[in-house]
Amino acid sequence: MAEKEMRVEKHPVLGVMGRGRRVTIFLDGEPITACEGEPVAAALYAAGRRVTRYTRKGHEARGPFCMIGRCTECSMVLEGWGMVRTCMTPVREGMRIWTPGRKGG
Ligand code: FES
Repeated sequence: MAEKEMRVEKHPVLGVMGRGRRVTIFLDGEPITACEGEPVAAALYAAGRRVTRYTRKGHEARGPFCMIGRCTECSMVLEGWGMVRTCMTPVREGMRIWTPGRKGG
């Protein structure tokens, strides 16, 4: 029996989003399969990516915390937009996301 896939289909702020079509987004240049319309942070989490940024002091890894746009722990660089809260940013096909503070990036 196939394992149930964990996806956000109803968000407390963004509302009901259903499960959009499969698209490819890019995290630090690597392709990731996501569902169109789901929060970017949720897509990254489903793909096993937990780190959204590194702190300037100490280079400590951070990841999504509140998932409702309050804490800014999920902030990442979205190409063409700059810094965004990925828990509040819907997936769009081909979007490119970069991890702030990543070494070698
Ligand atoms: S996880 Fe808190 S603002 Fe996105």
